[in-house]
Amino acid sequence: MEIMEAMRTRHSVRQYTDKPIDAAKLAELQAETDACNKESGLHIQLVTGEPKAFSGFMAHYGKFSGVRNYFALIGKKAADLEEKCGYYGERLVLKAQQLGLNTCWVALTYSKVRSAYKVERGEKLCAVIAVGYGQTQGTPHRSKTFDEVASAENAPDWFRGGVEAALLAPTAVNQQKFHFTLVGDKVKAEAGKGMLTKMDLGIAKYHFEVGSGKLSLVWDKE
Ligand SMILES: Cc1cc2nc3c(=O)[nH]c(=O)nc-3n(C[C@H](O)[C@H](O)[C@H](O)COP(=O)(O)O)c2cc1C
Repeated sequence: MEIMEAMRTRHSVRQYTDKPIDAAKLAELQAETDACNKESGLHIQLVTGEPKAFSGFMAHYGKFSGVRNYFALIGKKAADLEEKCGYYGERLVLKAQQLGLNTCWVALTYSKVRSAYKVERGEKLCAVIAVGYGQTQGTPHRSKTFDEVASAENAPDWFRGGVEAALLAPTAVNQQKFHFTLVGDKVKAEAGKGMLTKMDLGIAKYHFEVGSGKLSLVWDKE
């Protein structure tokens, strides 16, 4: 599956079947995790066959069932940790979607199981991403419009493509509190106020890069 199609067909899935992820797909997920860690310096870990994080009250409250595999998004505490976890976590989400798997970002409705992954001194677990075979493919979220999340005079096609891709991105409670402004041939990306908005921004920036075809060179760093 092409990555653009993966962005269009990905929706949060909270109920999973018993089917284990086959070895070849697990190997691809592990390889992508390793590549993300190498590029970013993060310490993301793929946890398999671990039901406890999603068996407590919080997971039940969050309507999760059958989750036994997840990515634990871990990295050194730093100002940009949340955004980095968002960016690289979404790269893993889209990889999983391309492999025919389903996912759900989870920052709140899960339990921490310290024995399942390593959080070294100075590191922090920011969120997890459930992964597996969904009972359904999920449903599209309600979305803000282009004008609500972007500012540009005579927006070129690549900018429109980037914003449209960002609008497909998952955000915490579907808040979509990000804003993209065209500045010359670069883009300023800003997070709104509130909880998890920096992680959401990292996720949306990954989608923008893919949708615009411009990769990381597109950002206006000021
Ligand atoms: C950073 C982040 C944290 C999230 N945390 C939770 C969570 O704790 N529990 C939950 O059920 N969904 C969680 N979600 C999933 C969102 O509710 C979901 O992505 C959003 O409603 C948009 O729907 P979609 O993913 O189907 O496009 C989270 C999403 C993101 C991006």
